[in-house]
Amino acid sequence: MKFFIDTANLDEILAARELGLLDGVTTNPSLIAKIVGDSSNFTYRDFKDHIARICDIVDGPVSAEVTCLNAEEMIVEGEELAAIHENVVIKCPLTINGLKAIRHFSEQGIPTNATLVFSPNQALLAAKAGASYVSPFVGRLDDISTEGMALVEQIVRIYDNYGFLTQVIVASVRHPQHVVDSAMVGADIATIPFSVIRQLANHPLTDLGLKKFMEDASVMKK
Ligand code: G3P
Repeated sequence: MKFFIDTANLDEILAARELGLLDGVTTNPSLIAKIVGDSSNFTYRDFKDHIARICDIVDGPVSAEVTCLNAEEMIVEGEELAAIHENVVIKCPLTINGLKAIRHFSEQGIPTNATLVFSPNQALLAAKAGASYVSPFVGRLDDISTEGMALVEQIVRIYDNYGFLTQVIVASVRHPQHVVDSAMVGADIATIPFSVIRQLANHPLTDLGLKKFMEDASVMKK
């Protein structure tokens, strides 16, 4: 399973790259808003420059999301984003207009990520439109007492049944168990916040065992 990082924060992206674990990056307007903070000077040009900086750091797919609702505008914006770098993946919402834009990009050979996916039928449509990636949001389903990972399992099964090449990115990952479950159900990718990537390495028995090993190692003179 590939690991993408779900952030627009350059420090986090650099730190994840240093761990040697980074296969790609996903961003969305809310993640961009987090790095901008209260700055009223941040322009669309700055947004594109920021995506370019991410592409310089990571040698893998970088999802950049369109910020409009109609298909024609998504196509214009997506083509501009695709021109930033060959690794840019155009993220489109799973709406009728988003599907039209995905179909267009797929015909142009521009990679796409169908986002805000909450049902197996939406995932089926994304694959039929030619999306390169589909992003089911597991955490947000869990938030409304619906098992997010059951959706991922359905999507993996459906894609497998018909040999769709669309890759499943488990998104809205909130904790390490989401990562385990993504791997158990055979998702292609999990896009993980930096805080959760760090948590994956932790185990109290590792800390306890290491403490004892260090104490016992001290009997040896160097
Ligand atoms: O990958 C999608 C993600 O950024 C949404 O996460 O935690 O806002 O549901 P969350």
